[in-house]
Amino acid sequence: YLQLTLAILKPHVIKSPFVLQKIRDLIIDNNFKIVRSRRMTISREEAELFYKEHRDKFFYNRLLTFMCSGPSDIYILARHDAIAKWRQLMGPTKVYQAQYNAQDTIRGMFGLSDTRNATHGSDSTESAKREIMIFFKNFNINKWYNSE
Ligand code: CMP
Repeated sequence: YLQLTLAILKPHVIKSPFVLQKIRDLIIDNNFKIVRSRRMTISREEAELFYKEHRDKFFYNRLLTFMCSGPSDIYILARHDAIAKWRQLMGPTKVYQAQYNAQDTIRGMFGLSDTRNATHGSDSTESAKREIMIFFKNFNINKWYNSE
């Protein structure tokens, strides 16, 4: 069945048309369908909700400042095993690991720092559901899974 995940192309990606096109090509070439898409500047309130599990981390403030600094592309992606496959395509969160061990991943190629790491992807079915509901309030995720 086609699993859903929430992907974010972060502000530094949107500022670079070449990088944006490369990542969009990778999405399509890896058999993801873009089910919904929005380009928007994430508000402070949305970012706080989205990243609530990180609120005690040392990088929380810089993460929120960056994520709200300009437009992001937010996609609902569908694929067989979408959550794991998107995370595999993104590569490791930390830029030194991505650049050292995973040069052919999105973060290996386009990550600039641990904060500006190019893309986000949900880490579980529960977080995919939660994250989709933050940015696509009218998307009926239960209907998606029940109608297949
Ligand atoms: P993301 O997948 O969006 O989920 C949490 C984000 O926190 C992560 O990508 C990074 O952008 C950011 N992050 C995680 N670890 C660090 C870190 N060590 N330093 C700075 N930012 C981080």
